[in-house]
Amino acid sequence: MKKILVTGGAGYIGSHTVVELAQAGYEPIIIDNFSNSEESALGGIQAILGREVPCHRIDCGDAEALRQVFKTEGDIAGVIHFAAFKAVGESVQKPLAYFHNNVGSLITLLQVMKEEGVENLVFSSSCTVYGVPDHLPVTEATPTKPANSPYGRTKQMCEDIVHDAAGAPDNKVHTILLRYFNPIGAHESAKIGELPLGVPNNLVPFITQTAAGLREKLTIFGNDYDTPDGTNVRDYIHVVDLAKAHIVAVQRLLDRKASEAVETFNVGTGHGNSVLEVVATFEEASGQKLNYVIGPRRPGDVPAIYADATKSAEVLGFKTTTSLRDSLASAWKWQQTLSK
Ligand code: WQD
Repeated sequence: MKKILVTGGAGYIGSHTVVELAQAGYEPIIIDNFSNSEESALGGIQAILGREVPCHRIDCGDAEALRQVFKTEGDIAGVIHFAAFKAVGESVQKPLAYFHNNVGSLITLLQVMKEEGVENLVFSSSCTVYGVPDHLPVTEATPTKPANSPYGRTKQMCEDIVHDAAGAPDNKVHTILLRYFNPIGAHESAKIGELPLGVPNNLVPFITQTAAGLREKLTIFGNDYDTPDGTNVRDYIHVVDLAKAHIVAVQRLLDRKASEAVETFNVGTGHGNSVLEVVATFEEASGQKLNYVIGPRRPGDVPAIYADATKSAEVLGFKTTTSLRDSLASAWKWQQTLSK
C-alpha cells in the first residue's frame, strides 16, 4: 500500500482524511503535535477502521524530528499537509505564532521532502485567499485580494512559497493546492468530528453547542449585509466530502496526471447559504428550535463567498454529494455523542 504522511492527521479535517485514505487502500501515517487536536481522535479513527493508524507526536517545524519520521517510515509516496493554526480571530491576536507555525512548518516540510526525495504534496489552502471577491462564485482564476487576517495571509504566503519552490531548477515536488470553503459536519459513525477548544469561533459548532444547552444563544454577526437576507453567505462543505477530495488529489499526483508542477482547486459545493438559512436548516434537521439574536458585524467577515466548483468537477472528477441538511444533521449527531 502507498504510504501517505498526514500532518495534522489528528485534527478535524485530518482525521476524516485519514479514515478515507485507509478505506481507499492507502497506508496513512499521522504526524501531530496535538496543539489543536486531541488524542481521542486516534481512538475514533481506530474504532472506525478496526485498526490503529501510526502517529508520530512531533511538530512539523522541527526539521530533525521530521527527518527522522521520513527515515523511519521509509518509502513515503506523498504528504498531505494540514498542520496549521486556523482561527481567523486568534491570528489577529497572535500574528507571529501564526506566521511561525503556518509558514515555518511548510518551509521545513518542503526542505525535508526535497532531502528525502518525496515528490507529492497536497496542501491545505483556503478560500480566505480570495479576500472580498468582486464577483461570485469564485473560480481558481479569481484574483486573490489582500487577506483580511494574518491567518489568510499565511495561506497566501504558503501558496506563493509552493509556487516559488516548484520554480526552482532542482525542484522535483508536484503539489496540488486545495482551497477549502467552510468544512462542517462529522463522520456518519459520530466517532470523529470537530473538537473546538474553548468557545467555538465557527458557526456550526456554536449552533450545535447552543442546541445542546452548552451555550445560551447564538449571536448572528450582522444582518445588514448586501445579501438576500442580510446575513453572510458561505459555501458549507461536508467534511467527509472534503476528505474525499484529498484522496482524488493524491491519486492524481501519483498518476502524474498534472501538466504543471502546481495545480489549484476550489473544494466547495458550488452553492452559497446564508447564516439564517443554516440556522433554519439546522432547526429542521435536528428538530431543535435554536435560540439566537442578531448582533453587531464581526470585523474581517467577508459578506459573501462561495465556490465555482467546475474545475474540480471537470479536472479532478470531484463533486460533493452531501446536502447542507445532512451535513448539519451529522454535526448534531456528533454533538449529542459528545454531550453523553
Ligand atoms: C461563518 C459565518 C460569521 C459564528 C473561517 C475561515 C476559513 C475557514 C472556515 C479554515 C460568518 C457567522 C459565525 C458565530 C455568526 N477556516 N457566524 N456567529 O469566518 O466563514 O471562515 O472558517 O480554513 O478560512 O476564515 O467561518 O464559521 O467563523 O463563520 O454569525 O457565532 O457565520 O459571521 O458569516 P468563516 P465561520
